[in-house]
Amino acid sequence: MKRETVKQTEWDHLLSAAQAASRGAHAPYSNLKVGAALEGESGAVYAGCNVENCSFGLTVCAERVALGCAVAHGERSFRRLLIFTDGAGPLSPCGACRQVLAEFRRQLPILSVGRGGVRRTFDLAGLLPQAFDWPAGEPSGEQEV
Ligand code: THU
Repeated sequence: MKRETVKQTEWDHLLSAAQAASRGAHAPYSNLKVGAALEGESGAVYAGCNVENCSFGLTVCAERVALGCAVAHGERSFRRLLIFTDGAGPLSPCGACRQVLAEFRRQLPILSVGRGGVRRTFDLAGLLPQAFDWPAGEPSGEQEV
C-alpha cells in the first residue's frame, strides 16, 4: 500500500481502539505492549492485545487476538488492520500473524504506528508472498523446477 493512499482520518478510530487495547496487554516478559484493531466489512472494529505466557512459545500477538475476536463475532471480511505500540518503532507483523491474516484477506491494508507516532504502511500480500494455501491454492509466481 502506498503511503499517499492512506487517509489518516480513515484510521483514527482504529488508532484509538488499538491504543486502548494495548493498555490491557499482558506483557510481563518483553514489556512490549501491543494493540491491534481490525475493521470488518460491517464497519465493526475488533481489538486485541498481546497475551504473553511464562511458557514463552504460547504467547499470542495482538493481531491474532483481534482476529479471533472478530471471527467469534461472525465477521469474516476485513477492510484494514492497525497495529499500535509505543514501545518500539512501528512493528511489522510476525510471520505467524501474516499467515493467519492471509486466511481472510490476502491484500489486507495495514497501518503500523510506533513510538512517537511514527507510521508505516504495508499490504499483507507484500509481507507474505506465496502464502500457504490449502486445499488447492496454487502459489502465484511459482516457478517449476
Ligand atoms: N507482538 C505483537 O503482539 N505483535 C507484533 O506484531 C509483534 C510482536 C508481541 C508478541 C510479544 O508479546 C511481544 O510483542 C514481543 O515479541
